[in-house]
Amino acid sequence: MSPEQAKQLVAEAAIEYIEWDWVVGVGTGSTANLFIDELAKMKGKIDGTVASSEASAERLRGHGIRVLELDQVSELPIYVDGADEATKHLHLIKGGGAALTREKIVAAASDKFVCIADDSKLVGVLGEFPLPIEVIPMARSYVSRQLVKLGGMPEYRQGVVTDNGNQIIDVRNLQISNPVELERDINQIAGVVTNGLFAQRGADVLLLGGSNGVTRLTA
Ligand code: 5RP
Repeated sequence: MSPEQAKQLVAEAAIEYIEWDWVVGVGTGSTANLFIDELAKMKGKIDGTVASSEASAERLRGHGIRVLELDQVSELPIYVDGADEATKHLHLIKGGGAALTREKIVAAASDKFVCIADDSKLVGVLGEFPLPIEVIPMARSYVSRQLVKLGGMPEYRQGVVTDNGNQIIDVRNLQISNPVELERDINQIAGVVTNGLFAQRGADVLLLGGSNGVTRLTA
């Protein structure tokens, strides 16, 4: 089975978590895009969506799905999004699509985070995928030096400006044995907006697509 087919399986499986009249938090990336396309088939049953990026908002609107600002909703029962890496503890690395900050905000505001991915994203230890960090532009070099002190190899993601007008540093070579602690420590560096570790608020459900169908892990 190709990764695309596996992503399609989990996009369809995530629809089963959506209930009538809910506002749905929607993530960013190729897997989230497939979920958006599935959501379009039941758009009359939901109240609207909150998008974690301009790109997803545009795709949702293209399907005629209502997109609300997070500030407009008092309750967000569910958030569905992909990941770059995931563990069986439902800790994630996200931000390959540079949408990590809004993704983290929408995930934090949601009652349930359903993460959807092809099963190649499941890893024993996070960190093979370079950890994305969104930084305020003037702090990029300073933050990079602090990341070197933590043992990382930071690289500026050239030519990328986030939806928030900031820049992305991708950090290789991090041994992420304690994701909760590292997420907190990196977020304490001045100039960091947020980092792509989703450990303090990881997923509640992880749906992995593969040749055996959909595997469901829960917190
Ligand atoms: C975007 C993300 C995505 O969820 C992550 O990059 C996975 O993308 P894809 O579904 O295309 O593999 O965090 O910032």
